[in-house]
Amino acid sequence: MTVNVLNDSTALAEAVAEKIAAFVKANPGALMCFAAGDTPQKVYLLLADKHKSGEIDLNTMWFVGLDEWVGLGNDDTGSCRQVMYSGFYDLAAIDHSRILAFDGLDENLDRQCQMIDKWITDKGGIALTALGIGMNAHVGFNEPGAVADSLAHVVALDDTTLNVGKKYFPSGNVPGKGITVGMAQLLAANELLLMASGECKAEIVKKALQGKITGAVPASLLRVAANLTVWLDSAAAAALVK
Ligand code: F6R
Repeated sequence: MTVNVLNDSTALAEAVAEKIAAFVKANPGALMCFAAGDTPQKVYLLLADKHKSGEIDLNTMWFVGLDEWVGLGNDDTGSCRQVMYSGFYDLAAIDHSRILAFDGLDENLDRQCQMIDKWITDKGGIALTALGIGMNAHVGFNEPGAVADSLAHVVALDDTTLNVGKKYFPSGNVPGKGITVGMAQLLAANELLLMASGECKAEIVKKALQGKITGAVPASLLRVAANLTVWLDSAAAAALVK
């Protein structure tokens, strides 16, 4: 594991965007899996700019959605699909045929999991994943109690996720279940990028990076991957023991 600490969230986004851009140039045709949520939004703006300026060609890549709130679809503000299409895929005019994301509105969620598992397998596995960390250390919706060998699955969301989720849903109606790419699929990636920004993440980052490796702290499971790089701003890194 390599830990990179940047001065602030802008420097963090620039560094991660550079890293992903270099990966895109070196690995055309590879599958990438990006988190929604607040942390990576600047990264996606920068990547869309690099694509529009011709520095990288995101239409050489494949994409898989990391997760979704069950019961939400394209048109629902705050859904992961909506966040990723409006904040990245459509901003960069990525061909929709290159993207597969969970449909949280499907009555048959097993079918959604099978579709995502097959897409990942057919593309040779996830080559690069860019993840955020929840206040309970979830990655995607791999909630506390996560196991390292899971594939795509539906999960009842943890109380912390339901509470924190109110920031995405001003109505206060936070869906109770999520659907997510599994830990096994993330751990098998050639490059795992874990990002955190802000003081509020400092304690959970410390627990995930310096505490016990356990499914109770899902992000800690990522430490078994040799190719994990962690990207923090100084506020998120503040509690780490040097
Ligand atoms: C979102 C996702 C989540 C978030 C995490 C951090 O697709 O997978 O695991 O990455 O909850 O969210 P933010 O970045 O909003 O703090």
